[in-house]
Amino acid sequence: MMNKITVSAPGKIMLLGEHAVVYNRPCIVTAIDQRVSATAEFINEPVFQLEATEVGLKNYQKPLSQIGKGEIPKEAKFAEIAVKLVLSQKPTSKKGIKITTKSQFSSLFGFGSSSASTVAIVSALANLFGKKLSQKNLFEICYKTVLEVQGKGSGFDIATAIYGGTTYFVTGGKTIKPLPVTSLPIVIGYTGIKADTVTLIDQVKKLSEKYPKIVENSYDQIAKLVDSAKIAISKKDWQSLGKLMNINQGYLEGLGVSSQMLSNLIYAARDAGAYGAKLSGAGGGDCMIAIAPPSRQKAIEKAITKAGGKIIKVETKAEGVRIES
Ligand code: PMV
Repeated sequence: MMNKITVSAPGKIMLLGEHAVVYNRPCIVTAIDQRVSATAEFINEPVFQLEATEVGLKNYQKPLSQIGKGEIPKEAKFAEIAVKLVLSQKPTSKKGIKITTKSQFSSLFGFGSSSASTVAIVSALANLFGKKLSQKNLFEICYKTVLEVQGKGSGFDIATAIYGGTTYFVTGGKTIKPLPVTSLPIVIGYTGIKADTVTLIDQVKKLSEKYPKIVENSYDQIAKLVDSAKIAISKKDWQSLGKLMNINQGYLEGLGVSSQMLSNLIYAARDAGAYGAKLSGAGGGDCMIAIAPPSRQKAIEKAITKAGGKIIKVETKAEGVRIES
């Protein structure tokens, strides 16, 4: 039996379909080349130990019998619940478990550091126990972790951390279809503002309780534009993709999840020659994305920076979860 294993999983960027994907509609999401790694190892003491220095967690530890119980600090929640779910599927052992996570990107960007680390932890732990998990099984355990920790979410970020590449995804993993595209010509601008996904989902839910037909109709329109974007991406028709992203941004504005800062960066990108630009993820802050011809990318980066954003360089041709050592 091996004693130690390291697994990594990529972060993600939502391309189109956020919010609607929480309510049984599709979205398109892409993995990025910045990753989170998790090392799982056996230790002699029967405790669960977690080191996640990137989120300021050092020497966190509790008895194995207490895992998932009592007060859990915010920074340890995904890891502890993920470990609890894996341990609940195997006979009890006297050995303790130590998990160490490391991230290549800041958890402030909205690149899905919690979901990538959940996938890396579950996969590392299963491998440590000599258990082969299919991608589907891995998705189920990780998605269960997300629902137990935050109560809501579509699971799109978990699927991307597992499958990598660019995927067409429907709520809860009902459909996970890799799209035939390698690299996407995107520019990413960070607003400098951290958004809280659950708060924004709740905000949209309130709006849909007040105007159910209008909000449902917006979701239906978003679903249609996501389906058109799927075809545009497959044909590498970036101009059409840009137009569809702009329409998507209009619906997100309508749902009330954009912000002045996001709009500033989005208009700066469009004015500098992007085919299209929109917010990415829950909204309220985090990042915006623009799709642009290579010849305009430098000018767009400059315009976003001038409007107060920070350019984050990523490549989109990223592999899903993998064993590192
Ligand atoms: O802010 P992010 O990157 O976690 O994206 C949230 C996207 C939502 O559709 C609002 C939620 C979800 O789980 O799909």
